[in-house]
Amino acid sequence: MRKLTDIHAEASNYFIAGASAGQRYNAPLGQPLYISRADGSRFWDAEGNEFIDFHTGAGAALFGHNNPRIREAINQALELGFFMNFDTVHHTQLAKLLQQFFPSCERVRLLNTGSEATQAAIRLARTYSGRDKVLRFEGHFHGMHESIWFNHNMVSKVDDHGEVETNPDSVGFPIHAKDGVVNVVFNDVEAFEHALKKYEEQIACVILEPISYNCGCLESRGDYLRAIREICTRENIVLIFDEVVSGLRMRPGSAQKYYGVLPDLTVMAKAIGGGMSIAAFGGKKEVMEHLNPIGKAAVSGTYSGALIPVLASVACLTMASEEGFYDRIEDTGNKLFAGIDGLLAKHNIAGHVRGLGARFGIYFGVENPEDDFDFRKVAAVQDKTTYKKFVTECVKNGLWFHDTAGPVSPAHYGFTIAHTQRDVDETLERLDSIFAKIA
Ligand SMILES: Cc1ncc(COP(=O)(O)O)c(C=O)c1O
Repeated sequence: MRKLTDIHAEASNYFIAGASAGQRYNAPLGQPLYISRADGSRFWDAEGNEFIDFHTGAGAALFGHNNPRIREAINQALELGFFMNFDTVHHTQLAKLLQQFFPSCERVRLLNTGSEATQAAIRLARTYSGRDKVLRFEGHFHGMHESIWFNHNMVSKVDDHGEVETNPDSVGFPIHAKDGVVNVVFNDVEAFEHALKKYEEQIACVILEPISYNCGCLESRGDYLRAIREICTRENIVLIFDEVVSGLRMRPGSAQKYYGVLPDLTVMAKAIGGGMSIAAFGGKKEVMEHLNPIGKAAVSGTYSGALIPVLASVACLTMASEEGFYDRIEDTGNKLFAGIDGLLAKHNIAGHVRGLGARFGIYFGVENPEDDFDFRKVAAVQDKTTYKKFVTECVKNGLWFHDTAGPVSPAHYGFTIAHTQRDVDETLERLDSIFAKIA
């Protein structure tokens, strides 16, 4: 059996920092974790160490690793020739299922990744509205491209009206890219209204995560989304919900049904493919008709709607439609969240869990749950030292809470439908010792 450090040394001859993707580098380990296989709620690293997985493929593995029904779907695609760049009856079946889970989607287009899909949705919104700027919210994440990757992992200057200075999350963006973006603080209707007035007739679309798991678990407060919806309708602005993480996560109908607010466009990815690379965006027919070949917004790709992910996605959505699926998620979540909260209290560690559906954040240092609705307050009081100790000890104790936290937001964690009571019990047992050590 090869040592992780040896694998890292060899991989570093070919990949930057030995990682095939930047986010795969793990700070507590000082290298990526190289794994050998995964099954259900667990995976094994290349040295044979077993982990209970709370990263779950960054949220894609909602149905558990190596899910037999997804495997069956992949096998079906293999038997059919796993071709790409053609449509089949399965594509229509998938679109029908997507409509059940994202009720605002009268029409759907398929792509491969969430980033591709947010980019395409923004392009479509610009085409439909004839306007240029995108309004986004501080802290929210919509993929790593030049149209939108601003103000995710940072706290920037804010003016008296809640407009935040636009700053990119990476260097290398075209110098004028940020001129296309307006940033405001989230959960503040007045700030939103003020920005719309300031940029009157310039905003093509508003994009948001209805629950920003990328900020830990930042929920929309009260009637906030309803207000945003009404204002966008009044001002003729395309409202885009990025449900890449919230989609399928807690209920059929996703966040849009949970909040009872329908966007004009929705972006979907991650869990809809259960680990196969598929994304989609969809929405009102009137807006979607501006896509090629009827309309002028061109969106297509070699692998868009490739057969393996399409059949996998049909299997995922079918599983999520079955009775008891969401009861099980709720049950696991309730036990896990209450269990972690209990242990934080037992060990006198300030903080709490906020979770909705199968994803959650641990808000170390945040004592007032009302603060969870405010990105800036959380950033100000979050206890990063305890967080770092937590992720580091978890890795040593077979719990994989991937170190995804930026400098300001809590990380988002998750579980799958394959996580059992035994997984929860074992996790809490290990966390009891971990919290005792880091308290
Ligand atoms: C809310 C949200 N939107 C978009 C994306 C981008 O998706 P992908 O990584 O598939 O490009 C992510 C990825 O984490 C996300 O969390």
